[in-house]
Amino acid sequence: MSEKAAAQATNNTVTLIDNATGRRFELPVMKGSTGPDVIDVRKLYQDTGFFTFDPGYTSTGSCESSITYIDGDAGVLLYRGYPIEQLAEHSDFMECCYLLLYGDLPTADQKRKFEHDITYHTMVHEQMHKFIEGLRRDSHPMAVMVGMVGALSAFYHDSTDITNPRHRMVASYRMIAKMPTLATWAYKYSIGQPFIYPRNDLRYSENFLHMMFATPCEPYKVNPVLAKAMDRILILHADHEQNASTSTVRLAGSSGANPFACIAAGIASLWGPAHGGANEAVLKMLEEIGDKSRVPEYIKRAKDKDDPFRLMGFGHRVYHNYDPRARIMRQSCNEVLDELNVRDEPLLELAMELERIALEDDYFVSKKLYPNVDFYSGIIFRAMGIPVSLFTVLFAVARTVGWVAQWNEMIEDPTQKIGRPRQLYAGPTRREFKLLAQRG
Ligand code: CMC
Repeated sequence: MSEKAAAQATNNTVTLIDNATGRRFELPVMKGSTGPDVIDVRKLYQDTGFFTFDPGYTSTGSCESSITYIDGDAGVLLYRGYPIEQLAEHSDFMECCYLLLYGDLPTADQKRKFEHDITYHTMVHEQMHKFIEGLRRDSHPMAVMVGMVGALSAFYHDSTDITNPRHRMVASYRMIAKMPTLATWAYKYSIGQPFIYPRNDLRYSENFLHMMFATPCEPYKVNPVLAKAMDRILILHADHEQNASTSTVRLAGSSGANPFACIAAGIASLWGPAHGGANEAVLKMLEEIGDKSRVPEYIKRAKDKDDPFRLMGFGHRVYHNYDPRARIMRQSCNEVLDELNVRDEPLLELAMELERIALEDDYFVSKKLYPNVDFYSGIIFRAMGIPVSLFTVLFAVARTVGWVAQWNEMIEDPTQKIGRPRQLYAGPTRREFKLLAQRG
């Protein structure tokens, strides 16, 4: 589905010297199309008897990819080479989906067809109503999503043969198309309202807002400013290279698991507060702080090494400069707040005060802990009337295209192997079993 990456071997090598024995090993260096070169350690164990040790993968490239590029120091994010700022300004989510999946921007005809095909996959098997109704109404919507997306493999058997390119394509379209339907159903179910079906005359983001806020009792008119903001949020979250959830999708997929199961695994990983769950955690934190006067107290707590509290929505593993998505999101946030005329809402005022103080505070400045995308998305969602528990679900809706693009790329990679990290074992060495009577 996607283009092949352009990584190459170079003539350069890096020498590894084992100081205990004096043995020297030459490790090949590979070059991508941009970004740092990588040391190829694939034969390290075979040639040297050493493993590398890198918990959290802070220095490890896990795959070759041509989809998304991040330069965290420069604050750059590119989808298939296109800067996120240009995509957010000139493109739309459907076009970005096409770009991520196929490697290039669509022509007008390709775009029309793609949008049509996605639109005509938005309906979900009717029997899935029963499935969702088997869950408790107070379930967290992310729990519903993990279950429902995993269950798609039980409803759509005809697109689970991962060796068949057509199956892979249909499964990918199905997931991109059905995620808003499932997400809004999770919400409607939680508040006891009837499920609203997708409408084929609406575009992707409009449809989402319609299924979320319409009821069968009266016509619902989608606010174009909110639909535009929603579309932009989806673009900004569509892919982000080899983050935790994407790596989870790839690892699950590396065993040959079906695509629905792999994306369900990605949703589970996204749920955590250090990842996609941060947008929900931001709002919970703001509610806990409660008043502008308490911001200094919480800033102090965030800086205290003995206190596990962290300022949610601040910091990023890769960006040590401003997260470029956060900059765009901040602007969108202002547009939405103006449109909805909610500037003087206390929680939003509190968020702005927190941002102001953290951006001036030496701890955050010196550690380059800027507000990340989740800080502003939580505020926008709240202003739009989206319940806090649905924030991470929206992240999952947007990221589905990234997950399926990365999954497809992995399946098509001829060098792909099952993911199987090794470890630094620190447990007991061999010991003899003791019968119960001998233990004491
Ligand atoms: N508040 C206070 N201190 C922080 C924070 C924070 N939010 N984030 C990092 N630090 C400190 C941390 O204590 C450490 O200090 P020191 O060097 O003195 O020990 C230093 O900054 C580096 O932190 P780290 O934990 O080693 O960095 P990491 O790359 O492992 O973690 C992170 C990245 C995003 C998990 C972390 O910054 C964090 O927990 N942020 C809050 C959660 C959040 O907003 N997550 C959303 C990330 S963006 C959306 C996405 O891609 O999922």
